[in-house]
Amino acid sequence: MEDKKIILSGIQATGDLHLGHYIGVLKRFVEMQEKYNCYYMVANLHALTVRRDPEELRENAYKLLASYIAAGLDPEKSTIFLQSQVHEHAELGWVLDCYTYMGELNRMTQFKDKSAKHADNINAGLFTYPALMAGDILLYQTDLVPTGEDQKQHVELTRDLAERFNKLYGDTFKIPEPFIEKVGARIMGLQDPTSKMSKSSTIPNDTIMLIDTPDEIMKKVKKAVTDSEGIVKFDVANKPGVSNLMTIYSIIKGISIEDVEKEFDGKGYGDFKTAVGEAIVKELEPFQTKYNELINNKEYLESIYTEGSRKAAEKASKTLRDVYDKLGLI
Ligand code: TYM
Repeated sequence: MEDKKIILSGIQATGDLHLGHYIGVLKRFVEMQEKYNCYYMVANLHALTVRRDPEELRENAYKLLASYIAAGLDPEKSTIFLQSQVHEHAELGWVLDCYTYMGELNRMTQFKDKSAKHADNINAGLFTYPALMAGDILLYQTDLVPTGEDQKQHVELTRDLAERFNKLYGDTFKIPEPFIEKVGARIMGLQDPTSKMSKSSTIPNDTIMLIDTPDEIMKKVKKAVTDSEGIVKFDVANKPGVSNLMTIYSIIKGISIEDVEKEFDGKGYGDFKTAVGEAIVKELEPFQTKYNELINNKEYLESIYTEGSRKAAEKASKTLRDVYDKLGLI
């Protein structure tokens, strides 16, 4: 197990997942568990940067766990755990806060975006969030961090912090690499294909949720914004809507973008959208069946996170002990 490369990633426990999560990371998490030693986390401490109802936050953790398993993560192969159950995350997060400069955090585009969105609650957690994320990653001596495009800056900061710490105190952390796919790392909204697909989009039909019904999915895809050219061709700058649908189709079908172009050569957007919608519905069908089963089986989900969190803590505590020793914390 230990000679395999180590992967750590997580998703915030903020409710139901959307197709961007699925294509950008979840589908990849499942592929990676065959080859790597994977730690997949329910990032519920991170979710506190926005005010949340406690019952909802609890429920969201179960929803995310159920989504992980429904998508195909196997607790026998991957360590699946809750961030709040491994106290080392909060502890290393604090330590790293003290080694992160305000200037570095000020440059984080996600902080800028989120503080614009939540202007009435720009709390210190929102600002120092990347240091907590760095702690998540560094605790596991992680080699690779699979994420979507929007998290790249945070992983780069993580590398800087690890290097800074190692330079001061000697080898402590493995320097992790971002692991971002060329295709699919930024799925865009269906109505506004110049902004990434996100749960917080207020535009109707912009976001496909993983638990949408087949009818809802077909309707949203059919309404997706395209252009007046009528040609299925990949050109992000001039045809962002069509290119986004092509990306989704290519990942779900496991074919290249060129093959998508060939398949729809001479066909119009009507046929194309029907095929994309049907591919999504078919892909999500087994996910939805499994999810609906799991979400009512809290006992099973509890057994998964209890065992996963125990395994995660075993690894995390070693790194934190080393950090505390080096810093002179008794
Ligand atoms: P979060 O919860 O916003 O998103 C989870 C992952 O999904 C990716 N993603 C997308 N990928 C493609 N297209 C989209 N439209 C799309 N929307 C979201 C994100 O890039 C991300 O990889 N800070 C992280 C969670 C986190 C984490 C970590 C990740 C906490 N600790 C340690 C990696 C390692 C976040 O908020 O992701």
